[in-house]
Amino acid sequence: MKVLITGGGGFLGRRLAARLLQRGTLGNAESREEKIERITLFDKIPVSGFDDPRIRVVTGDASDPATLDEIVDAATDSIFHLAAVVSSQAEEDFDLGLSINVDVSRRLFEACRKLGHRPKVIFTSSLAVYGGALPELVRDDTALAPKSSYGVQKAIVELLLSDYRRKGFIDGRVFRLPTISVRPGKPNKAASSFASGIIREPLNNAPSVCPVKPDEQLWLMSPRQAIECLIHGHDLGAEAFEPWPVLNLPGVTVAVREMVEVLGKVAGEAATRLIRWEIDPTIQRIIHSWPTRWDMSRARQLGFEGDPDFESIVRAFIKDDMAG
Ligand SMILES: NC(=O)c1ccc[n+]([C@@H]2O[C@H](COP(=O)([O-])OP(=O)(O)OC[C@H]3O[C@@H](n4cnc5c(N)ncnc54)[C@H](O)[C@@H]3O)[C@@H](O)[C@H]2O)c1
Repeated sequence: MKVLITGGGGFLGRRLAARLLQRGTLGNAESREEKIERITLFDKIPVSGFDDPRIRVVTGDASDPATLDEIVDAATDSIFHLAAVVSSQAEEDFDLGLSINVDVSRRLFEACRKLGHRPKVIFTSSLAVYGGALPELVRDDTALAPKSSYGVQKAIVELLLSDYRRKGFIDGRVFRLPTISVRPGKPNKAASSFASGIIREPLNNAPSVCPVKPDEQLWLMSPRQAIECLIHGHDLGAEAFEPWPVLNLPGVTVAVREMVEVLGKVAGEAATRLIRWEIDPTIQRIIHSWPTRWDMSRARQLGFEGDPDFESIVRAFIKDDMAG
């Protein structure tokens, strides 16, 4: 199997690559496990830290069509398309968001179409495609009404992928990820960045700002579980994604206040006092427009699993990312 990860230097891209190297196999087009011979990590930032002959690093800008044609070569079996401009950045820079989140995706699908062998294409979408009045339980096929440029851009690509799939050009699958928490490292430009910061910073004895109200609810998944879901979704047979190749992954719904309570339980009350509450109206508005109650029956029928609860998410972060 020859695998391409766009955004391979990003948070999820790097973890996906590490997990694939560890597994050594992926399901092929006939759903048989096949050895992974090559993983191309494509990103605009240079990717380092992988010492494995199966890893090929390509550094370049996805908005350059020549680069895309180079990385999607005739041997490519599977693509995890993760490269993106994240939510707050896409909101601030409309043109950049449109160019990277929409134009690049279309060009990528077109490059796949030219291959002629219908590669698997996994696209990571987001709950930001929803908004406005929502039913009691949100389903995969609930009408989309995004309230941010990022959400609109993800929704456009979901539909585009579905049509490339319907036409038989790609074996495309869309997974809408919950907000991934706890994310290690520094805050990023996602509106939901605080969902990691209010846990990560206090665990590292550093202050953190929470820009939304304590009762605001979030839909979360650990990075570890998200990667397992992407691989599981890749390996399922194409028929699992008929008639609709878009699936919400099973997250954990939790109020920000409950997240802070878990922090206190795991790290002590002093850790919770490192959080300063300072409402940011823009972030509050975006986060409030995202749904929190879900019908997960289809994902569960297809064998996708979420984290048991938020405490296990925090403990997984401590184990996976704070070792030493
Ligand atoms: N992390 C989350 O909470 C979350 C939730 C829902 C959806 N997603 C989606 O999952 C995917 C991966 O998310 P992530 O958290 O790893 O994001 P990330 O920002 O860490 O990674 C994205 C990568 O894309 C790269 N990139 C951006 N523009 C590029 C360009 N022009 N050319 C080449 N590379 C470019 C960036 O350098 C970065 O390394 C994204 O599509 C994101 O929208 C993430």
